[in-house]
Amino acid sequence: MFIPVENPIFARNSTQIMARFHTLQVKDIQRETADCVSIAMDIPTTLASEFQYKQGQYLTFKVKVNGEELRRSYSLCSSPLTDNELRVAVKKVAGGRVSTWMNDVLKEGDALEVMMPMGNFYSDMNAANAKHYQLFAGGSGITPMFSIIKTVLKSEPNSRITLYYANRDEASTIFKSQLDALQSSNSNRLSIHYIYDNAPTGHAALYCGMMDVSKVTALIENHGDLTGNCEYFICGPGPMMENVKNVLSQLKIDSKKVHIEYFTAVEEAVKKAEAASSDGKVISKVTIIMDGQELNIDLSSDGPTILDVAIENDLDAPFACKGAVCCTCRAKVLEGQMSMDANYALSEEEIEQGYVLTCQAHPATERVVVSYDEP
Ligand SMILES: Cc1cc2nc3c(=O)[nH]c(=O)nc-3n(C[C@H](O)[C@H](O)[C@H](O)COP(=O)(O)OP(=O)(O)OC[C@H]3O[C@@H](n4cnc5c(N)ncnc54)[C@H](O)[C@@H]3O)c2cc1C
Ligand code: FES
Repeated sequence: MFIPVENPIFARNSTQIMARFHTLQVKDIQRETADCVSIAMDIPTTLASEFQYKQGQYLTFKVKVNGEELRRSYSLCSSPLTDNELRVAVKKVAGGRVSTWMNDVLKEGDALEVMMPMGNFYSDMNAANAKHYQLFAGGSGITPMFSIIKTVLKSEPNSRITLYYANRDEASTIFKSQLDALQSSNSNRLSIHYIYDNAPTGHAALYCGMMDVSKVTALIENHGDLTGNCEYFICGPGPMMENVKNVLSQLKIDSKKVHIEYFTAVEEAVKKAEAASSDGKVISKVTIIMDGQELNIDLSSDGPTILDVAIENDLDAPFACKGAVCCTCRAKVLEGQMSMDANYALSEEEIEQGYVLTCQAHPATERVVVSYDEP
C-alpha cells in the first residue's frame, strides 16, 4: 500500500539527483577492435549537471533487444578532465544479448535510455598527491582504467601509473594505440605492460600467458611497488581478478588501497545466496521509501529481496545487474538492520553509513525502514 510520507526528513532533497533513466542520443560510435565499439552520448545542457562523473564510473542503459527489456552497465572510458564527451566501450560477449546488439545493431542518432553515472571505482584526485597507481586490467576491464589513467595524468603531476593489461592477443587489445600514444607523451609517469595469451614472436616470457598467481607475482616482483603511497585497481575476467586480489592480500597490502570493479556476478556469491539458511528467521515490518512515498509490507528475512518486493509493488526502483556488482540499486537503511547475501560494490564507508544493495538485502530486525531517496 502507498501512502505519502509525512516526516519531512524523508522528503526529497531539492539538491538530490534521483537515479532515473533519461533519453540520450548516440553521438558517435567508433569500432575499437573486431568485437568492441565505443559509444559517445549526446548530453543536452539541461542534463549536464546530472551527467557529471568521476573517472572510473559507469552508465546504466535500459534497452529493448528482440522485445526483451534489459539493463546493463558500461564503464566510462572518457575522462571528466580531458574529454568533452561521455563515452563507454562495449565488448561483445559470446551469446551476449546487449553487448552484441550494441556492437552490431546500434547506430549513431539512435536514442538510448541512460541513468546518471554511478560507482565507486575511483580515488579522489589531489594535485599535491605523489602516488603510484598500479592498475591490473583484462579485456574490457581496460574501460574504467583508461578513464583513470587520463584523469591521473592530467590532475596529479607527481603521481605515476603502472598498467598491467592482459589480452588474448594484440589485435583484441582495446585502446592499444591510444594507450601507446599516452605512454610516449608521459614516459616518465606511465608504464604499460601488455600480457598476451597468444604473444607475438619475441614478446618476453614474463608478458606471455594467463594472469595466474605465479604470473601476477612475477609481474609485481619485476615492476610493482608495495611500499610508499600506492593504490591498486583491478578490473577484468573473474579468475584474473581473484588471482590479483589474492596476491595483493598475500603481500599484506591494506585492502583499503585495493579497488575492485566486478563486471559480472561472482559465482561464489550466487552459491552463497542460494544456500542462505533460514536460521534465526525474522518476520519484519518493512517500510520502503521512494520518491517521497512509502510502501509498508511484512517481509521474512528468508524471503525475496527488498528490490524484488519494490518492483513487484510497482515501485520504479533502480537496478541493473541484480548480482551485487553494480551498485545501481543502492538505498539507505534509516531504521533497523538488514543483511546482504553478497556485496561487491559498496565501500566499507557506505556500509558504515547504512547503505545496502537492495538486490541483495533482507530484513534482519523486526522493524526496518529503507529509503531510495537518500543521496
Ligand atoms: C559496473 C559494471 C561495469 C561494466 N562495464 C563494462 C564495460 O565497460 N564494457 C563491457 O564490455 N562490459 C561491461 N560490463 C559488463 C556488461 O554490463 C554486461 O554484463 C556484458 O556486456 C554482457 O551483457 P550481455 O547482455 O551482452 O550478455 P548476457 O546476455 O547477459 O549474457 C550472455 C552470456 O555471457 C555471460 N557473460 C555476461 N557478462 C559477461 C562478461 N562481462 N564476460 C564474459 N561473459 C559474460 C553470461 O554469463 C551469459 O552466459 C560492466 C558490468 C558492470 C556491473
Ligand atoms: S542491481 Fe547491481 S548491485 Fe544491485
